[in-house]
Amino acid sequence: MSVQNMNGTKVKPAKETLPEVEVESNGNGHKMYSYEMLEEIANFLLTKTNIRPIIGIICGSGMGSYWKDGSLADTITDAERIPYEEIPNFPTSTVEGHHGQLVFGRLGEVPVVAMQGRFHYYEGYPLWKCCLPIRVMKLLGVKTLMATNAAGGLNPSYKIGDLMIVTDHINLMGFAGNNPLQGPNDERFGPRFPPMNKAYNYEYRKIAKKVAKELKLDNIIREGIYTCLGGPNFETVAELRMLKMVGVDAVGMSTVHEVITARHCDMKVFGLSLITNECITNYEVEAEANHEEVLDVGKMRQDLLREYISRLVHEFSKV
Ligand code: HPA
Repeated sequence: MSVQNMNGTKVKPAKETLPEVEVESNGNGHKMYSYEMLEEIANFLLTKTNIRPIIGIICGSGMGSYWKDGSLADTITDAERIPYEEIPNFPTSTVEGHHGQLVFGRLGEVPVVAMQGRFHYYEGYPLWKCCLPIRVMKLLGVKTLMATNAAGGLNPSYKIGDLMIVTDHINLMGFAGNNPLQGPNDERFGPRFPPMNKAYNYEYRKIAKKVAKELKLDNIIREGIYTCLGGPNFETVAELRMLKMVGVDAVGMSTVHEVITARHCDMKVFGLSLITNECITNYEVEAEANHEEVLDVGKMRQDLLREYISRLVHEFSKV
């Protein structure tokens, strides 16, 4: 179905706004899910599958959250797919075209759970809710989070289609006082003041470089600093120039808060960005960033990403 926009162009109608979900308030108006509510979600999922995942994978826009055939999540064996809508108290994906499901199963021999589609701040969810699945993964027994995303390449040496192993991030939204760990801290997840200097596991990064070499990906593999902006608009030229100055290599709209949540509850983290576009830091350039490009590059790299991530899952499960 399509409707006309204000310029007369045919567009898809807007999806429903956020579904109403029951949340607990801590008495200060700060809303969050209690440990017990999250446990309920995890227990529900454990009744739906015999898989007991040790690795959780977030498949972002560049990794098959929009398409099925041939994506990493599609190649998971013994798969049990659970749409977000069917999980009590789970947010649902409001991004048009996102699958919005958890896929339990195996990659090789390794039991995994993949999120096909994540929750973004720009959808209207507060950061703690974007990160709710991470805590659910923890309660399912997941030890390692592999967070993938599509990102704009700010480092001038990056090319479209490159893969960036995330060495570190800059939590820009945190600078502005927005953090998924805000509010009362539940020590059952982790400490009030978690360290973040070892956010992206060093051992995993070493393995990722070794595997890339073995798969002859040396020419496209990079290492760099990621940052997340709230979105949904892409950045201005001035904003990108500023980010470049502070040492950012790739820009996206996810991952940082998920990694903070995962580290808070002591999960090991690996981050991988697919560079889907070159950030435009020059006013003379005609081109404009767009979402279609992000998806196209994801499709272009899907076979390679599937092979690379599968190998990494195998190697990470041994450490
Ligand atoms: N900016 C922000 N998020 C993105 C980009 C970008 O250029 N590309 C893919 N996700």
